[in-house]
Amino acid sequence: MRRGWSTASCWAWATLDSLKGPTEWGEGTHGVGPWEGTWPTEERYDPELLENGDRRNVVDAYRYWTREAIVADIDKRRHPLHVAIENFENDANIGTVVRTANAFAVDTVHIVGRRRWNRRGAMVTDRYQHLMHHPDVHSLLVWAIRNDLTVVAIDNTPGSIPLETARLPRECLLLFGQEGPGITPEAAEGALMTCSIAQFGSTRSINAGVAAGIAMHTWIRQHGDLSHAW
Ligand SMILES: C[S@@+](CC[C@H](N)C(=O)[O-])C[C@H]1O[C@@H](n2cnc3c(N)ncnc32)[C@H](O)[C@@H]1O
Repeated sequence: MRRGWSTASCWAWATLDSLKGPTEWGEGTHGVGPWEGTWPTEERYDPELLENGDRRNVVDAYRYWTREAIVADIDKRRHPLHVAIENFENDANIGTVVRTANAFAVDTVHIVGRRRWNRRGAMVTDRYQHLMHHPDVHSLLVWAIRNDLTVVAIDNTPGSIPLETARLPRECLLLFGQEGPGITPEAAEGALMTCSIAQFGSTRSINAGVAAGIAMHTWIRQHGDLSHAW
């Protein structure tokens, strides 16, 4: 029994332990060691990972797979959801957006404005996520029209519709602003609607990466097929 814990707490802990998710099963060892036994012959397996072990932060189903094989597999079931973030001043949140987009099998993350962004927060997930750069909002909007995507801006500006009650389009591009200025007027004008996330405290806004996670998950709740989730 864990020191200082009641029997009931220990039971709850053991139950929770057995309910661990796919990214937690290798906890403690972080990943897997070299492949034991006869190596699989399928092309998706990476000989270097089989030889040395796979310490990457990937779900267990993709252990020892090559990066290309993982991307190709996600490509078979990516959602018709795109996200875009304006990157004219501060790129601190883009890594978070990319990581969350990868988790939700978003089709593509669009970076609008500056091409450079700090990849640290992406925790290497950008290797598995399609990314596209657009020099300005106009180019993004033209691209969205050509690809039959409905643009929904996400910001808490006057006149916005509560995201909590809005119906998001299935073929959708969610567009986020950046810290400070928020969404540009051009982006808001080009969108079908602007949706806001309800707040109740003193701060004017939440972090753009957090807002992106909430909005992406709202789309997943409306259009995702949970039988395809890990
Ligand atoms: C930190 S906010 C800044 C702009 C915000 N309109 C303001 O008045 O301070 C940066 C971005 O995060 C997203 N965001 C932050 N809080 C939000 C909220 N409550 N509802 C919707 N989007 C939000 C939006 O995409 C926004 O453009």
